[in-house]
Amino acid sequence: MKKTDIKATITFSDGSPSVELPVYKGTVGPDAIDIRSLYNTNQKLCFDPGFMATASCESTITYIDGERGELMYRGYPIEQLAVKSDFMEVCHLLLRGELPNTVEKDAFIKELRQYSMVHEQMQFFFRGFRRDAHPMAVLVATVGALSAFYHDSRDVSDEEHRESSALRIVATMPTLVSMAYKYSIGQPFVYPRHELSYSANFLRMMFSTPMEDYKINDVLVRALDRIMILHADHEQNASTSTVRIAGSSGANPFACIAAGIASLWGPLHGGANEATLAMLQEIGTVDKVPEFIQHVKNRTGGVRLMGFGHRVYKNYDPRATLMRETCHEVLNELGLKDHPLFKVALEIEKYALDDDYFVARKLYPNVDYYSGIVQSALGIPTAMFTGLFAMARTVGWISQWKEMISDPEHRIARPRQLYTGAARRDVKPIGDR
Ligand code: ACO
Repeated sequence: MKKTDIKATITFSDGSPSVELPVYKGTVGPDAIDIRSLYNTNQKLCFDPGFMATASCESTITYIDGERGELMYRGYPIEQLAVKSDFMEVCHLLLRGELPNTVEKDAFIKELRQYSMVHEQMQFFFRGFRRDAHPMAVLVATVGALSAFYHDSRDVSDEEHRESSALRIVATMPTLVSMAYKYSIGQPFVYPRHELSYSANFLRMMFSTPMEDYKINDVLVRALDRIMILHADHEQNASTSTVRIAGSSGANPFACIAAGIASLWGPLHGGANEATLAMLQEIGTVDKVPEFIQHVKNRTGGVRLMGFGHRVYKNYDPRATLMRETCHEVLNELGLKDHPLFKVALEIEKYALDDDYFVARKLYPNVDYYSGIVQSALGIPTAMFTGLFAMARTVGWISQWKEMISDPEHRIARPRQLYTGAARRDVKPIGDR
C-alpha cells in the first residue's frame, strides 16, 4: 500500500472538529481513505452495511475491474491463465505468488499429493449423515472435522504449519467432495490416484465404481480444470471475507474454510448455476423462450433471468466468455450440440443480448450461465454444483487466509454498529411490568 500526498477532509455540521485522513493508492483500482483514526479522534463511525464502499484489507492476490470486465490473479489476466496454464499452476500462483516453472510445478504437485487421502476414520463422519443430506451440509461438517484430525498443523503462528494446512486442504477437497457424492448415491468411496491430474483424479473418484473404471476423456478433464481456474478466487466476496473474519481470531484453518463453505452455500452466492439450470429445465424448449423473456421484462412474480447480471461486472464477465467456449467444446465432444437445454440457453442469450431491457441495464450472461450446463454434461448432479465451486475456491480462501495471518497489520476483525435500540432504562420488578 502506497501512502500519497492526497488527504481526505471530513467536516461535520454538528460543531465537531474536521478531520484530515490519509489516502492510499493500490497498484490499480480506486484509492482508499484510511478512516482508522476517526473513532479515536472524533468518536464517529462509518456506516457501510454490506461493505459497499469499504476495503476490508490490503491484498496482493486478485484484482477485479467490474467496469472493464477484468479479472486478474497476481496480475495475470484470467483469459491468459485459462488457456496458458492449468489449475495446479494457478494454485501455485495463488498460494505462493508466482507461476511455477516445470521443476517447481512437479515439486508442488508431489507435495500436494501426499495430502490427497483423508484419514480413514473420516468415513465414519459420512456414515452419520442421512442419505439425502445436502452435499453442502456434509461438506461444511466434514471439512470442519478435519480440524479434529490434523493436530500437527494447528499452530497458525508457525509458517510451516500454515503451509502444510494450506496444501492439505487444497489436496483433500476433491476427495471429500467426491465422498459426499458417493455417499449420497450409496456407492463405495473411491480413493485418489497419484498418477492422475487433479481434475482427472476428481472425475475418477466421482464416477468410477468397483465394476467399471472411469474412462478419462481429455476434453472433459480440461473443461473441469477450466471451471476450477475460473472459480479459484474472486477477491473479498462473502465467503472469502467469512474465511478472513473467522481466521482473524487465530481459529483453526480447516474450521475457517468450513465457515467459507457455509457462506458459499447461500443462493445469492454459490447457488446461481443451480438456479440457472433449473430455469432452463423449466423453460424446456426453444419455442417457450419469448414468453419467458416477456415474463422477466414484465417482472411477473419477480422472475429474473438466472445467470444474467453481476454485482461487480457491469459490462461483461470475462469468465463467462471462457466458460461459453468450454460449453461448446464439451457438448461437441459428447455429441450433445442438439441438447434441448443448450438450445434454450443459446436462444435466451440471443434474445437477451439484443433486447433493450437487458442492454440498458447492462445485463450479460455471467460465468454461472454456462457452468451449470457444462457440469451437467460432465455428469455432475445439480446438488453437487456448489460443492465443485467450493472445491475450486478453496485455494483462493486459503491463500487469502495465509496472506491475512502474515500481514503485520492484521488484527481481529471487529466491526462496530450504529445502535438504534432502546436507550438505558431500568429493570422493573416482574410484577410491575
Ligand atoms: N434478470 C432480469 N433483470 C435483472 C437481472 C436479471 N438477472 N439482474 C438485474 N436485473 C435488473 C433489476 O431488476 C434492476 O432493474 P431496475 O433498475 O429497472 O429496477 C436492474 O437490473 C439492476 O439490478 P440490481 O438488482 O440492482 O443489480 P445487482 O447488482 O444488485 O444484482 C445480481 C446483481 C444479484 C447478480 C442480479 O443481476 C441477479 O439477481 N442475477 C441473477 C442471479 C445470478 O445469476 N447470480 C450469479 C451472480 S455470478 C456469481 O455469483 C458467481
